[in-house]
Amino acid sequence: MHEPTLTVNMAMTLDGKVMLPDGTWHGLTSATDRKTMDEYRARAQALIVGRNSVEKDNPVFALKDGRPGPRPVMICRSRLPRPDLRFFQHEPILYTSPALAESAEGHNLSKQAEVVCAVELEPTSIIRDLSSRGYNRLLLEGGPALNAAFFRLDLVDTLHITIVPYILGDSSLPGIVDSDSCLPDFKERSWKLVRCERIENEIFTEYRRQRK
Ligand SMILES: NC(=O)c1ccc[n+]([C@@H]2O[C@H](COP(=O)([O-])OP(=O)(O)OC[C@H]3O[C@@H](n4cnc5c(N)ncnc54)[C@H](OP(=O)(O)O)[C@@H]3O)[C@@H](O)[C@H]2O)c1
Repeated sequence: MHEPTLTVNMAMTLDGKVMLPDGTWHGLTSATDRKTMDEYRARAQALIVGRNSVEKDNPVFALKDGRPGPRPVMICRSRLPRPDLRFFQHEPILYTSPALAESAEGHNLSKQAEVVCAVELEPTSIIRDLSSRGYNRLLLEGGPALNAAFFRLDLVDTLHITIVPYILGDSSLPGIVDSDSCLPDFKERSWKLVRCERIENEIFTEYRRQRK
């Protein structure tokens, strides 16, 4: 069996913010960033996304050049997503609790998604389950709350950050990882910069987690 690998892709402003005060992230990245995002998506088999991000931004999941994209995946512990999202146009997998799975059935969400009822909804179990279904190249596109759960458990192997040329200056807005406390052993968890490229007015980076 293949080892699953997890890549995170995020864009952030010069002051490290990843969302606007209205909770969206519209209009801050370029067409090049969109193209780059599609390249990362084309390499992935499954794309894990946070419910808040999908509800706020209603992102497009189809790749612009028509290549097949990765299968969207969402994890919901407290409530189900709205049913009118583009997310549901791509046969997504929805991991949820037994109680919510039952209500998904009631709301017909099970016609729009593969609803996987799981007692364990934490990241390690989700990655294990995705791998058992043949999804080993995994991409996570935030948001910061969902990212935090994966970074906390040290599950991220590759991190792409695009730096966009804006400064928001609002201390209440999160960065790529939004958590109440520092990640454990963060000094021992080092990252190697393997790519740093300027394209027009943005910087595209790739960091790999250095494991001993
Ligand atoms: N700049 C960028 O590249 C970028 C990328 C993506 C998103 N964003 C922005 O990020 C914002 C949304 O981020 P967000 O942090 O509010 O929400 P989020 O990370 O998109 O979604 C959080 C939700 O994920 C669910 N979840 C499932 N398992 C979880 C776990 N182990 N830990 C934490 N949450 C888990 C939770 O719902 P349950 O409690 O129901 O489980 C939680 O409410 C949007 O404004 C979007 O624009 C920016």
